[in-house]
Amino acid sequence: MVLAVRAGGISIGYIDEEEEYIVWAVRGVDLAIEEGDAFCLVGESGSGKTTFASAIAGILPPHAVTRGKLYIFDRLAIDESTWNFNGLRGRVVSYIPQNPGTSLSPFLTVEDHFYYVLRDTLRYDREKSRKAAMEALLKVGLDRGVLEDYPHELSGGMQQRVLIAIALASNAKIIVADEPTSAIDANLRASVLQLLGRLNREYRVTLLLVTHDLASTSIVCNRLAVMLAGKIVETGRTISVLRNPQHPYTKMLLDCVPLLGVKKPLKPLPGEPIQVVEDKAICPFRERCPRAIDKCVEEPPLKPVGDEENHYVKCWRLTGVESG
Ligand SMILES: Nc1ncnc2c1ncn2[C@@H]1O[C@H](COP(=O)(O)OP(=O)(O)OP(=O)(O)O)[C@@H](O)[C@H]1O
Ligand SMILES: [Mg+2]
Repeated sequence: MVLAVRAGGISIGYIDEEEEYIVWAVRGVDLAIEEGDAFCLVGESGSGKTTFASAIAGILPPHAVTRGKLYIFDRLAIDESTWNFNGLRGRVVSYIPQNPGTSLSPFLTVEDHFYYVLRDTLRYDREKSRKAAMEALLKVGLDRGVLEDYPHELSGGMQQRVLIAIALASNAKIIVADEPTSAIDANLRASVLQLLGRLNREYRVTLLLVTHDLASTSIVCNRLAVMLAGKIVETGRTISVLRNPQHPYTKMLLDCVPLLGVKKPLKPLPGEPIQVVEDKAICPFRERCPRAIDKCVEEPPLKPVGDEENHYVKCWRLTGVESG
């Protein structure tokens, strides 16, 4: 088994402008993503998904601080003192942002975009880059005619496909897609997700998909982690977590989204997400949790769920402490 991503107790915070405090967006996360996995990170707004995904893609902003370690294909990319994504960023790991329009230059054609990336990552010349671009466009279902187009001539869905094609042409082994469909038309969303799913299956590209939409998860991903206030509170095979959610927060997230084929009214998630300045070891959901007990002022461990392979949950109610 090859691990594409391994996080060991990783915490990521942002220093505020006055340098007085740090907001901890990711807190002590341990996670392993196997090569070939399609891994989904879900959670409410502010739970730390983008921060964690940016760390894996090597694009954390300069005012971020990190603790713990992150390995990409066994190469140490982040530890306490250094971030080293040389040879990884754009090459091994490619990032597909939420809004494709902002990462494509209005002054460059699609062909130029391919060229500048492939020149920098793989030292390709114009001709080699054009050939690689045509192959990759075919894989994402776009006509080679788009090479001459400028980004504004393409729909959001096509722009997203172009970015995915650039990642493929760079031979990226891991694609990190942060809410890749939230800025595009609803009717194109499923096709972009299906495309990512197909690339994962056919080319074994490891996929990390960030979303707060659990319905999209079930289309594409084999594994799922649920984030809350910077921690992973439930993780497992997608099918196992969606069919048998354990954490009260996961259940609430599921109540908020229409799963494919299941029609039910949408409920907003009750309560406000918290911003963590003091990194205390408590359950971050306890004040909003319908099942909270006294014990929840302590942080629960991540424990296996019954006999389910790889399904873990971080909740006292499921780890044998029922009274209190
Ligand atoms: N560039 C930044 N500078 C300072 N704080 C940040 C920055 N980006 C995120 N944060 C803070 O880190 C926490 C986690 O934010 P993050 O964007 O990672 O969450 P998210 O799960 O991706 O949310 P969303 O679903 O809204 O995209 C929040 O408290 C947020 O305010
Ligand atoms: Mg985000």
